[in-house]
Amino acid sequence: MSSRPKVTVVGAGMVGGTVAQMLALRDYADVVLVDIVEGLPQGKSLDLMQVGPLMGFDSNLTGSNGYEETAGSSVVVITSGIARKPGMSRDDLLKTNMGIVGSVTQQVVAASPDAIIIVVSNPLDAMCHVAFDAAGFPRERVIGMAGVLDSARFRTFIAMEAGVSVQDVSAMVLGGHGDTMVPLSRYSTIAGIPITEYLPADRVKAIEDRTANGGAEIVGLLKTGSAYYAPGTSTVEMVDSILLDKKRILPCSVLLQGEYGIEGLFVGVPVKLGAAGLEQIVQLNLTDNESAALKKSASSVQGLVDAMKTLKDSD
Ligand code: NAI
Ligand code: 2OP
Repeated sequence: MSSRPKVTVVGAGMVGGTVAQMLALRDYADVVLVDIVEGLPQGKSLDLMQVGPLMGFDSNLTGSNGYEETAGSSVVVITSGIARKPGMSRDDLLKTNMGIVGSVTQQVVAASPDAIIIVVSNPLDAMCHVAFDAAGFPRERVIGMAGVLDSARFRTFIAMEAGVSVQDVSAMVLGGHGDTMVPLSRYSTIAGIPITEYLPADRVKAIEDRTANGGAEIVGLLKTGSAYYAPGTSTVEMVDSILLDKKRILPCSVLLQGEYGIEGLFVGVPVKLGAAGLEQIVQLNLTDNESAALKKSASSVQGLVDAMKTLKDSD
């Protein structure tokens, strides 16, 4: 039996498969992939195991259609769900993914009561509420992945625009994972210099807009699905910070209880991630405009939470 920490990834689709691959390459955890499709998690796990001799990792990967093998996981990543299809309303998607994320969460929690849950399924902030309610965990152990991805996109566009190494770019994106997200240019830097001093204002605005539209831009190109390389790798950055107790400061969707003037909503803000999960919410000083943009983004999350309540009541 391995004494490595176990990470369960529910949903062995494009994002789940990438999370498993990137985690295996890190070589410090074992991975259990779970999906309802028979053979899919088993096939991807076996394929990834065979990367081990090539890339030199010893991580064990197991695929399953149940939850027995997931018992005792330290981290559970939830990527299961469906994407919006033509003709499907936002409420149809919300209803389907609510059902999937709720039932998956109950099953993972029964097998791994001490796990830290990272939610990836969309609509992200709403699905964090579903997982939080179904898990009955403290807020420290239910965390949504979106800000890491959105800020990676922001960093990419900043580096492309300035013609500098992406390694020297750091960036912050707050708010819900949708087009109301708040790319925070004042707190985004090239070698410590705010991008607002480095780039012309119209270019900063264009990059902010491209970031907020980053997911849709990739869907428009792929046509049959959404992004997965950067989403999967962003998720693994969060797993690293938790399991290696790195205490990175990363933008994540967490349940705010008065921080940033927001009460009882999952919204993206900078947090310290360590062995205990959410270890601290970092409070940035925001201008009135930034604060208003964050509140507007939070109100769009509230809209989804209200819609979920109506859908539940109509059942
Ligand atoms: P995908 O369709 O490739 O994979 C989803 C998988 O979930 C499928 O293999 C499906 O069989 C499985 N699944 C469905 N119901 C299940 C259940 N009850 N139990 C176990 N597995 C189940 O989709 P992809 O591209 O991997 O995306 C996954 C989710 O992540 C989507 O909701 C997507 O919108 C979201 N996403 C979120 C991002 C973020 O920034 N938070 C970024 C990228 C994707
Ligand atoms: C993305 O931002 C679809 O949420 C997904 O790529």
